[in-house]
Amino acid sequence: MKKTILITGGAGFIGSHVVRLMVNKYPDYRIINVDNLTYAGNLENLTDIENKSNYQFIKADIVDSEAVFGIFEKYGPDVVMHLAAESHVDRSISNPLDFVRTNVTGTVNLLNAAKHFWEKPFEGSLFYHISTDEVYGSLGEEGLFTEETPYDPRSPYSASKAASDHFVRAYHHTYGLPVIISNCSNNYGPNQFPEKLIPLFIHNIIQKKPLPVYGKGENVRDWLYVEDHAEAIDLIMHKGKTGETYNIGGHNEWKNIELIRLLCKVMDKKLGREAGTSEGLIQFVKDRAGHDLRYAIDAAKLQKELGWKPSLDFEQGLEKTVEWYLSNKDWLDSVTSGDYLNYYREQYEKR
Ligand code: NAD
Ligand code: DAU
Repeated sequence: MKKTILITGGAGFIGSHVVRLMVNKYPDYRIINVDNLTYAGNLENLTDIENKSNYQFIKADIVDSEAVFGIFEKYGPDVVMHLAAESHVDRSISNPLDFVRTNVTGTVNLLNAAKHFWEKPFEGSLFYHISTDEVYGSLGEEGLFTEETPYDPRSPYSASKAASDHFVRAYHHTYGLPVIISNCSNNYGPNQFPEKLIPLFIHNIIQKKPLPVYGKGENVRDWLYVEDHAEAIDLIMHKGKTGETYNIGGHNEWKNIELIRLLCKVMDKKLGREAGTSEGLIQFVKDRAGHDLRYAIDAAKLQKELGWKPSLDFEQGLEKTVEWYLSNKDWLDSVTSGDYLNYYREQYEKR
């Protein structure tokens, strides 16, 4: 069946993997990528598919209602897959309003357009909102986030994502808009902007720069390879039930410091450096304000109802990721210039 799918944030890290998957897997679908190319949006992520006939890029800001309504009017999407967001917790601590703007206002703007252009009873339409496990707050040593865990966001980023999730559900309950939400754990893999832990540390190890570990490195995250997230999104879009929420996670918890030691070991091996060289770059720095201790996802619902599970174990995924960054140094060089350097100074030279 032909469909027009509007993907927001498709030039970013996860969005670019979702766009590639959809363009290649569904030649009959028309994939419209709407992104305003912030510091995190990079069209170089999509050079391999940019000339495909079922793909189109539109540079637009999701906060600009005229632009968004114009896109809905012109292309008539059946499905919105909404990934555009400000996504970095540290940036949200220095600039919360940027997060309110894109993550809250931008989302409501898209919901308004969907409500306006999708005729009731909205048959064949879907607003699929891609969200994060951070909305559930922080876990202690035990327990997992389920779809029933009450929201308890604790950073400006997670508060803005929680607000956007609430608006999506409110449009479902109030107007009957067909929506699905998924909340995923930490992603890693190719094309991730080197402000997030894994690509930042890969970049610093290559450059023999310090590895700034926040606090004692005891915080725990649940890591998922980005292509596994993209597969889950595809499955949920096609098979998920309207009005439902699905948690996506890797069953793969790592204390930061243990993950960093493993990464150092892999990097030494791949770079032909003496074992222990990269670990020598570790520096413990001032902790992130309000740093959530632990995230861990229970993805049983997605596995039981839709049959999804991650395809890669972490060691495989990490090795694949390191290999990608080492063979794409041009990509890394091109994104570590300009605005990113200013941000880097602000973020790290003050610590
Ligand atoms: P990213 O920062 O790499 O990419 C975000 C993209 O959105 C960029 O291409 C950027 O240009 C675009 N964008 C930002 N503001 C925009 C605006 N106003 N208008 C149009 N486009 C705009 O983010 P990511 O890590 O790929 O995350 C994508 C989505 O997945 C986000 O909603 C995020 O909350 C969610 N998520 C991320 C993770 C993770 O580990 N990275 C985990 C779970 C959920
Ligand atoms: O859980 C899903 C979330 O994962 C997504 O919603 C966010 O968009 C994504 O950025 C990510 O958030 P985190 O804050 O967990 O990711 P980050 O890579 O920034 O940090 C991972 C852990 O590493 C966290 O405990 C903080 C720590 N850290 C991070 C950086 C950048 C350091 O110790 N040093 C660093 O320099």
